[in-house]
Amino acid sequence: MFEVRDYPDPVLLKRARPVTVFNKRLERFVAEMFDTMYEEKGVGLAAPQVGVGARVLVINTEWEEKGAGGEIAMINPEIVSHEGEEMRNEGCLSFPGIYAQVKRWSKVRAKYQDVKGAWKEIEAEGFLAQAIQHEFDHLEGRVFIELLTPDQVALVAKDVEQLKREFKRAGGKSKPAPVEIE
Ligand code: CO
Repeated sequence: MFEVRDYPDPVLLKRARPVTVFNKRLERFVAEMFDTMYEEKGVGLAAPQVGVGARVLVINTEWEEKGAGGEIAMINPEIVSHEGEEMRNEGCLSFPGIYAQVKRWSKVRAKYQDVKGAWKEIEAEGFLAQAIQHEFDHLEGRVFIELLTPDQVALVAKDVEQLKREFKRAGGKSKPAPVEIE
């Protein structure tokens, strides 16, 4: 189990590095990211959210319990095409209790490597497409509140300020990464 980093931890605002080594350590890291995601009742988690600046994300938008179908681990993902736009309600484990409407592409096609390094492609729409975009943004150092319209920003501004105060009170610094991923 990893500790999830809350905004504005600087690790959330930096572009993550590509993964170049596909080994047991990476597999263990991905398994522990899934455990952390289930424990925190999330449907997606990106490595920067646990303090690791590597291009790794996990998603399960169908989960009812750990291990049930729908687990996707993406290493070095890229969104290769997209279609349509829609407003969707969104939250993030790094912004506890904060939800807002975000404009997302309706459909995306993404390519990524699996934990063994094999290239895969996925076509997604709806909630899964939204999750892929949200977690991919984390790898770019982008958080969902950056995508809000001014009226949505106004709705969450107080809660975001509270998170900033809490981070400052806790020392205002990022903790070391729990594991090094090459
Ligand atoms: Co998030």
